Amino acid sequence: MIERISTEVDSRVISILRGNEKKLFYIHSSGSDGEQWKYQLESIGGYAIDLPNHGKSDFAEIESVDDYAYYASEAIRKTCGKAVVAGHSLGGAVAQKVCLDYPETCMGLVLVGTGARLRVLPEILDGLKTEPEKAIEKILEMGFVQKEKEYEWVRKKYFRYPEVLHLDLSLCNKFDLLENYRQGNAKIDVPVLIIVGREDRLTPLKYAEFFRKHIENSELVVIDSASHMVMLERPEEFNSALKSFLDNIIPETQ
Ligand code: COA
Repeated sequence: MIERISTEVDSRVISILRGNEKKLFYIHSSGSDGEQWKYQLESIGGYAIDLPNHGKSDFAEIESVDDYAYYASEAIRKTCGKAVVAGHSLGGAVAQKVCLDYPETCMGLVLVGTGARLRVLPEILDGLKTEPEKAIEKILEMGFVQKEKEYEWVRKKYFRYPEVLHLDLSLCNKFDLLENYRQGNAKIDVPVLIIVGREDRLTPLKYAEFFRKHIENSELVVIDSASHMVMLERPEEFNSALKSFLDNIIPETQ
């Protein structure tokens, strides 16, 4: 069963979807919310945050990925103390910063369709200001292999708050830890699972391979017939990879 709970961070309500008890904390991508993880919450459990300004959480002034990481780490502290942190795209950038800056809250990392650097096509970033409909269609076209029912579901979310999507993508565009990983300054000391759709055009396979190369204790799972929205496009394959990571590598999430 999935229920909605909430916690407060700096007097702001942070809304969270909770499945079965599991020390697993999901962070959604740009312009999305915790519902994005519905198939994982149903099948595996854990907690899925609505970041500030998304879903049912309160508004907050957000200027960087670091600001989101602060809210996420506080929410982890208040819900389960410490968790495996799973993040998708922008959420993957946030998850990296939670792990690096608040290591006491992170016992493992799941990096899904994300990167150490997340530059955004000007056609999308500038387009969201000038021709939002066209830019959103472009993101969706690049983000899915097939226009299945999940496509329409995500489309509705993006069209609801295009300005939030724009803010999130502008933060992605500034996010850059490439050199930190290369120089060995971004030290991830927990087990890491990297998941990417083989046909991801927004965060291509080479971003995932970069992580695999630079994070010592990491494994990479590439899911066929999936693009960027891999947890929605191929939930069975996705959940099976996540379950085996949790059961075999980090059993203390129970
Ligand atoms: N991991 C590993 N390598 C990365 C990387 C990552 N996360 N991000 C960038 N790089 C590499 C690139 O492959 C490139 O290497 P190369 O010169 O050997 O080809 C180099 O760093 C510079 O790339 P980038 O920072 O992306 O700048 P760019 O000017 O070459 O390209 C875009 C800019 C927007 C065209 C490009 O980033 C892109 O196609 N992005 C994906 C589409 C998108 O908008 N995604 C949204 C993500 S939220």
